[in-house]
Amino acid sequence: MRKPIIAGNWKANLTLREAATLIHQLKGSCDTDAADVVVCPPFTALAAVAPLLKGSRIALGAQDVFWEAAGAFTGEVTPPMLVDVGCRYAIVGHSERRTQFGESDEVVRRKLQAALAHGLTPIVCIGETLAQREAAQTLDVLTRQLDGALGGSPPDICRRLILAYEPVWAIGTGKHATPEQAQEAHRAIRQWVADRCGPEAGAAIRIQYGGSVTAANAAGLLQQPDVDGALVGGASLKAEAFGAIIKAAAGTGAASPP
Ligand code: 13P
Repeated sequence: MRKPIIAGNWKANLTLREAATLIHQLKGSCDTDAADVVVCPPFTALAAVAPLLKGSRIALGAQDVFWEAAGAFTGEVTPPMLVDVGCRYAIVGHSERRTQFGESDEVVRRKLQAALAHGLTPIVCIGETLAQREAAQTLDVLTRQLDGALGGSPPDICRRLILAYEPVWAIGTGKHATPEQAQEAHRAIRQWVADRCGPEAGAAIRIQYGGSVTAANAAGLLQQPDVDGALVGGASLKAEAFGAIIKAAAGTGAASPP
């Protein structure tokens, strides 16, 4: 059995005060052992959020990470800094970084290697654009992104990370993948891992779905056999919605719209 993992990607949102309010509200709804829960605030809020999570089951994650450990890299935040502030996870290769900040598969590979080298669990994002889906290239794109990010690594890498299938056309659009579309992609991703890293790794790896996940659609997506959690953007900024998604993952109650 794979334990579901729900992560909230706050993106470039929330001041320190707003972050503290959200964490305070979330702590009540995240008291479950049936799902792992992660919040990924912006860098500016990490040090403020970390102590607020003490005594809760919510883990801290970053939205990005640099590939070097330290040095003259103006503006970057390195893996040891994230570990120091209390992060256990780091999102890598989000489509917004790929498309708006020019991150290549090679950059994604370097970042995830650096995260792993310092004990962070990378959440590696992959997914196709609408044009690629309409051209029936979805599985080719996923394979190319997986090859690019993980291809040259020893097979045991697949045991040390989380994958997130985030179709670009579903991110922030309100148009989520259908459970069937998500399942098809997730099954293909799991097969890639099994082929590349062995059947045990394929069975064990957790694959999140991301893209317009809400309290209303979470249960249908999370019930798919190869969907092991969600990477949530907009709905993770609202305690009630995020709590309902966690509940759906934990199987402790049906998700209902806030
Ligand atoms: P939305 O849930 O806002 O579509 O964002 C998804 C996402 O990009 C999570 O990383």
